[in-house]
Amino acid sequence: MLWKESYEIGVPLIDAQHKELFRRVELFLQVLRSEVCWDEKVQKVNETLEFMKGYVVEHFRDEEEYQQSIGYPGYEAHKQLHTGMVEYVLEFSKKYEQSNNDEQLIQQFGGKLLAWLINHVAAEDQRIADYAKKKG
Ligand SMILES: [Fe+2]
Ligand SMILES: [Fe+2]
Repeated sequence: MLWKESYEIGVPLIDAQHKELFRRVELFLQVLRSEVCWDEKVQKVNETLEFMKGYVVEHFRDEEEYQQSIGYPGYEAHKQLHTGMVEYVLEFSKKYEQSNNDEQLIQQFGGKLLAWLINHVAAEDQRIADYAKKKG
């Protein structure tokens, strides 16, 4: 499991969403690295893209609402990071469709998702918790 308890920010809804994000990305990478047939991988990519456009967008909204509720000063900058990720997913989606399910592109996407998730949750999201703690 890639998820670590130290990633928790102490807000049950957000922590549950982060755990689910890790679970889904991990599953996606497992399928990409496995020996399953190509069609199954393509299916998993489509599923993951839908997940990113639905669940992840919802998570970003919930997290931004939480930031506003505690007056988090990094709100605007953080929102930009979320927007950047959503834009990347949409851009990848387009490229991926045009490429006719190019494998290299898919592997790149898997790597980027994982790196983004870990960096974002372990560093950026953690700052929200630090601020909340300091504020008391
Ligand atoms: Fe988050
Ligand atoms: Fe975030």
